[in-house]
Amino acid sequence: MAEQRTLIHGQWSNRTVFILAATGSAVGLGNIWKFPYIAGENGGGTFVLVYLLCIALIGLPIMMAEIMLGRRGKQSPINTMRALSREEHRNPNWVWLGWLGVVAGILILSYYSVIAGWAISYVFRTAGGMFQGVTADGVNSIFTDLVSDPERLLAWHTVFMVMTMAVVARGVKNGIEKAVTFLMPLLFGLLIIVVIYAMTTGHFMEGVRFLFTPGPIDGKGVLIAMGHAFFTLSLGMGAIMVYGSYMKKQHSIAQASMLIALADTVVALLAGMAIFPIVFANGLEPGAGPGLIFQTLPIAFGHMQGGTLVGVLFFSLLVFAAWTSAISLIEPAVAYLVENKGMSRIHAAEWMGGITWFIGLGTVFSFNIWKDKTLTIPYLFENFTFFDSLDYLTANIMLPIGGLFIALFSVWIMREQSTRDELATHPMLYNIWRFLLRFITPVAVIVVFLKAVGAI
Ligand code: PFF
Repeated sequence: MAEQRTLIHGQWSNRTVFILAATGSAVGLGNIWKFPYIAGENGGGTFVLVYLLCIALIGLPIMMAEIMLGRRGKQSPINTMRALSREEHRNPNWVWLGWLGVVAGILILSYYSVIAGWAISYVFRTAGGMFQGVTADGVNSIFTDLVSDPERLLAWHTVFMVMTMAVVARGVKNGIEKAVTFLMPLLFGLLIIVVIYAMTTGHFMEGVRFLFTPGPIDGKGVLIAMGHAFFTLSLGMGAIMVYGSYMKKQHSIAQASMLIALADTVVALLAGMAIFPIVFANGLEPGAGPGLIFQTLPIAFGHMQGGTLVGVLFFSLLVFAAWTSAISLIEPAVAYLVENKGMSRIHAAEWMGGITWFIGLGTVFSFNIWKDKTLTIPYLFENFTFFDSLDYLTANIMLPIGGLFIALFSVWIMREQSTRDELATHPMLYNIWRFLLRFITPVAVIVVFLKAVGAI
């Protein structure tokens, strides 16, 4: 029997709200900013294929596991892991898995907020007509001007962190629910408009071919594709776990997970189809790196009919998408402080927001005054800036390790009856889920790790 636990943070009003909130967490900068540029840097086709396989075989089953653990534990990931390992009479050290998630969330948010700040500043640039009739070179220099100015980056980073803290402080019902209900569908519509523009560039098929035609990829590319599957689905760090803890018992975890993964994947592919035709039509570099969308989309907005309006809306929605993800990155830590330190949500949000903001300074400076200060970790990466290193270590190492242990805990440590009860799904689906998590997922994660460091 599951222990009786009371909820102190509230619950989602209904199933749709949970799906929207989790989709809000999943769909974010990862889909629109990160996916296109890492696909571009890693040669397109095969990278996309590996990413899709990772979503289906690793991401989806882990998402079900994370929601399941959260809903059973009903608390922050740290206390959920503590409660579940006690309930299952297992080693209390599983609580460290919760800690890993909380730390990863804060580290990711510290740089996520800086990039979201770029998007905010682009709302104003687009609104001011800065991109009208612009050339590829012009867009490039506008981007370079922005990132080389630490004060401006810092200001926007601060604005975004304050926005995030404000929603988290208001709590599950009043804050998070309200923000996601309208914004997700709108973002989807805007993305379609940009894809339609991309179709008129005359290079649409070139973009599509780049995304879907297999080519060479190395072990590191495979690791980045897998890491991104975790990142984009918000897995491996307790964000989805904590959202699952606010989910009601009677809703289907399997169905919700499939919808969330599907929506997330469609948004990423649409973003790719919007961006690459513009890249090729303007003779730009697909591997341009983190600035890619900021150096391509303004060209579209500068040349299409009504582009200023579409551009302002697009960047605003990108900010909202980032906002709904940021909330979930900080929520595990905030929930923990409320549960264990007796803090109010407002206080907890202020504390965690302040710490995250401070770590974010490293990313702000990575693009200007610390541009040449780099780090090398043998076998993993060479000469990475603070931002590159943080992104690599969180997305490609911490999230997959978190996800791997979530998988192991769910199917090797918890009793089968507990997971069967909690998932309450069709027996065949349950068996497939269990088989994937017992054998396929852990082996796949470990093989990808070994391949990336050149051990196999
Ligand atoms: N999934 C978000 C994105 O794709 O932008 C980022 C993210 C949110 C990662 C929450 C991890 C997380 F726990």
